[in-house]
Amino acid sequence: MIKSHKMTNPISQNRVVISGVGSRVPEKILTNDELAGMVDTSDEWIKTRTGISERRIAGSHETTSDMAAGAALAALENGKTDASEIDLLIVATISPDTAMPATACYVQEKAGLKNAMCFDMAAACSGFVYALDIAYQYILTGAAKKVMVVGADKMSALINWQDRTTCVLFGDGAGAVILEQGKGKSLGIMASSMKSDGSQASILHIEAGGAAMPLTPENITEGKQYITMEGSVVFKSAVRSMSEIAEEALAKAGLSSSEIAWLVPHQANKRILTAVAEKLGISMERVVINLEKYGNTTAGSIPLALDQAVNDGRIKDGDYILFVAFGAGATWGATVLQWGRE
Ligand code: ACO
Repeated sequence: MIKSHKMTNPISQNRVVISGVGSRVPEKILTNDELAGMVDTSDEWIKTRTGISERRIAGSHETTSDMAAGAALAALENGKTDASEIDLLIVATISPDTAMPATACYVQEKAGLKNAMCFDMAAACSGFVYALDIAYQYILTGAAKKVMVVGADKMSALINWQDRTTCVLFGDGAGAVILEQGKGKSLGIMASSMKSDGSQASILHIEAGGAAMPLTPENITEGKQYITMEGSVVFKSAVRSMSEIAEEALAKAGLSSSEIAWLVPHQANKRILTAVAEKLGISMERVVINLEKYGNTTAGSIPLALDQAVNDGRIKDGDYILFVAFGAGATWGATVLQWGRE
């Protein structure tokens, strides 16, 4: 299924901008050397094949909604926004606190977003860009005024810690942004393209725990509640899809890759990001990368990287920014925007 659109704004003078950004990661650090004491791997293998040195791991009582609410509160503070002003909350996650209700409802309560309509977005590593696209549409139509979009995942709960092919890749974390109509000082969101291909569902999935295969003692013993992945297939599909969708979104925005100040990609694997940047003709100095410290935080990864690059001064008003992601589904998408809070 393909959905893409040129962002022609029906409310012509109004633009949709990111007016606040925040993040939250757990305190506990798990290093490659510690992992090497748990499975047959090494710091050198993980660094060379993925670029990851360490990741954050949530405590047993620290949930996806706790991290999401922490990121949302940080975004409210950063955007000088009162919690009561948020009228829509979308939480992108593939590791919900519970199967029912939506994790967004827990986040609403924890962050005090009492006037928000709330729902979850399940698009795995693409969840943040998908949710951003929906938020954009709500604001353009006037259905919402201020939207909180959170990407949050506690991947440590979904990983088989005895499977070295997956456990070295992921970490826990959350990032959040507030979207609202801009005052015209920046272009804000300029274009986006989102795609899905359900024929790739089996290359990265969790077999048991849904209604198709409820958990039983037998399938838990077999480890079917955990992520399984065909790593090299995912790798190739990610490189091809991320570069193609980024080109498509750039064309819609009327920009060339040389005009992009910062590529803020989903933090999957440094080799994936290097290949995508090369295909796009974007030098690595213009790619925001934090995966060496956080690993792949799934829906949390783009807003977490964005928060760091905004708050350390790398991203400046007027910069053209490109988000691009690929994840389970398969789902993928790209967003082009001009940075600026007004
Ligand atoms: N430590 C040591 N050896 C390992 C490890 C490990 N952690 N994991 C796999 N190996 C071994 C394999 O068993 C294999 O051994 P063999 O040759 O004896 O069979 C060897 O290393 C090479 O394995 P490959 O899978 O070919 O290694 P590759 O270079 O493809 O790297 C990786 C594997 C890192 C998983 C890579 O394929 C990848 O990053 N894929 C994308 C995965 C991803 O990002 N998933 C996240 C969700 S989707 C997304 O975010 C885009």
